[in-house]
Amino acid sequence: MLRPSLLLLGVAVMITACASLEDYRLPDGRLDGERLYAKRCGSCHEPFAREDYGANEWIGHVEHYGPRAGLNAEARAAVLLWLCEPRQAR
Ligand code: HEC
Repeated sequence: MLRPSLLLLGVAVMITACASLEDYRLPDGRLDGERLYAKRCGSCHEPFAREDYGANEWIGHVEHYGPRAGLNAEARAAVLLWLCEPRQAR
């Protein structure tokens, strides 16, 4: 039958997607928000520049698009920290 095998495939894909977040682990144990953002948030479109949005807007965008990019809560937090890291005003 087709259905059980499709279900298994789906589960396998989900597990693979989750496990690969570990590839973004830094030596100190945190997730690398900069690399996650470039790779995951840049998979459907060019990643927007950090300067394009303020912290309040990034919170909304990361909550909205994070699940589509396969980011769990920890990964979304790491990406947000990087996006909203204090930087010099232009
Ligand atoms: C599965 C594909 C996909 C992924 C992954 C993705 N985006 Fe997008 N993004 C889109 C599409 C499509 C649009 C155009 C607006 C829409 O249709 O929602 C968009 C638009 C945007 C915009 C423009 C503002 C808006 O909402 O229209 C921002 C900012 C953005 N994405 C941020 C992100 C961030 C941050 C991530 C990672 C957490 C991300 N995207 C990952 C598909 C994606």
